[in-house]
Amino acid sequence: MLASLPQTTPSLEAEPDPLGHLLKMIHEQGDIVRYHSGYGLVHLFNHPDHVQAIVQNANFERTALMRMVLGDGLLASDGRYWQQQRRLLQPSFHEKCIHGFGHVIVQSTLGMLRRWEKEGATGEVLELCAEARRLTLEIILSVLFGEVPQEDVVRMVDAAQVIMAHVGDLSDVVFNVPLIIDPQLRERFLSAMEVMDSIVAELTQKAESGPRSARGIVSSLLQARDEGVLTARQVRDEIVTMIIAGHETTAIALSWAMALLSAHADVYERLVEEVDRVLDSRTPVVDDLSQLTYLRMVLDESMRLYPPVSVAVRQAVKEDTVAGVRIPAGGLVLVCSFTTHRHPDFWREPERFDPERFLPERSRDRHRYAFFPFLGGRHQCIGQGLVMIEAPLILALLLKHVKMHMPSGIRRYPLPGTALRLKEGFPITVEFRKPLPAC
Ligand code: HEM
Repeated sequence: MLASLPQTTPSLEAEPDPLGHLLKMIHEQGDIVRYHSGYGLVHLFNHPDHVQAIVQNANFERTALMRMVLGDGLLASDGRYWQQQRRLLQPSFHEKCIHGFGHVIVQSTLGMLRRWEKEGATGEVLELCAEARRLTLEIILSVLFGEVPQEDVVRMVDAAQVIMAHVGDLSDVVFNVPLIIDPQLRERFLSAMEVMDSIVAELTQKAESGPRSARGIVSSLLQARDEGVLTARQVRDEIVTMIIAGHETTAIALSWAMALLSAHADVYERLVEEVDRVLDSRTPVVDDLSQLTYLRMVLDESMRLYPPVSVAVRQAVKEDTVAGVRIPAGGLVLVCSFTTHRHPDFWREPERFDPERFLPERSRDRHRYAFFPFLGGRHQCIGQGLVMIEAPLILALLLKHVKMHMPSGIRRYPLPGTALRLKEGFPITVEFRKPLPAC
């Protein structure tokens, strides 16, 4: 089997579109693609059966890339250590706890809209992803620490962006995107890490001295530290992990959803009609989400086309086989939701934006790994429950109060990175369609 697989080296020097390039290789070579990358030989597995086999196999562990930022945090660790941490954190993400954050999500979104009200009135061009990042950062910080001052959000958002961009550049090497070695970028990354660490330390200290009832998820981490289960360093690693994993991803999901809506007037109008009908003149609450069914379908379809975390890279601890293909010890294995979500055996007209694919009757018999924006298996996203109240509440508020205008006809080339970045960003202008509730 191995001998029959062609080995290609994707030449991306003149190719701004690494994910498009992967799709091309899959189209030409089939569901298993083998190529040489800057990190060594990579096996890309595209079929949902193979994705399942990989994510459920503990022999395929994470690479060390995220460790330089996240230390031993949940998103960077693996094996027995990861298992202990996951057990410790899982209860904080129970549905009952997460639903309590609905109010924070709504208030933070209204805060952003109030800022826009001023800026929108002048027709100023905003960058949607940057706005969404600031919002989702504010939300995750509140989820972690309770109330957080705006100055800390503003200081942290730029630092987080520099960190994510640097890790993204390093991770794109797996697609042969040339890495630009720039000592200044490295310097910026290191000082951004300092900013991140100092704000996290300040907020942790404040949470410790404040009333226990006002703390968010950090409370359980501090308790574990006090009981000797975690060290102060481990607490830091988990907090930075939640901040890094828990804001840009959601911001990207929202930005792509808005970009797709602005290009599909029919879907946009149907969605606004649903939001207006369900909410009437009310501000949304978590209980409304079960009635906003089309909204959920739109979000799923956006994440099918543009999954915010588009790849998972794993390394074989010992020699193994997947679909009959031998993977040597240390060999790199890649699953890519961006390409599997376009698999023609599972998705008709895969490039078409069609939220109705996610009608319950059309989803029932779908392969579990034909759609996996939150991965699955051992490392399934711990924040999925939070995202599934956060993203729809924010989107419902945006659709209710503003109409966004985005320049049309831009060909967008998303970069896989650690989160599906878009070099050009998402420029928007906003127009208010309904007044905001009084403070
Ligand atoms: C739309 C938003 C999000 C998407 C698409 C997403 C997607 C993912 C994916 C694909 C993974 C697996 C990564 C891998 O193992 O290679 C993951 C893991 C993880 N995510 Fe998310 N995520 C999102 C939001 C969040 C939020 C809001 C949080 C924090 C509250 C979060 C925390 C984590 C953590 C801690 C892990 C590691 C889980 C483990 O290995 O046990 N994510 N996420």
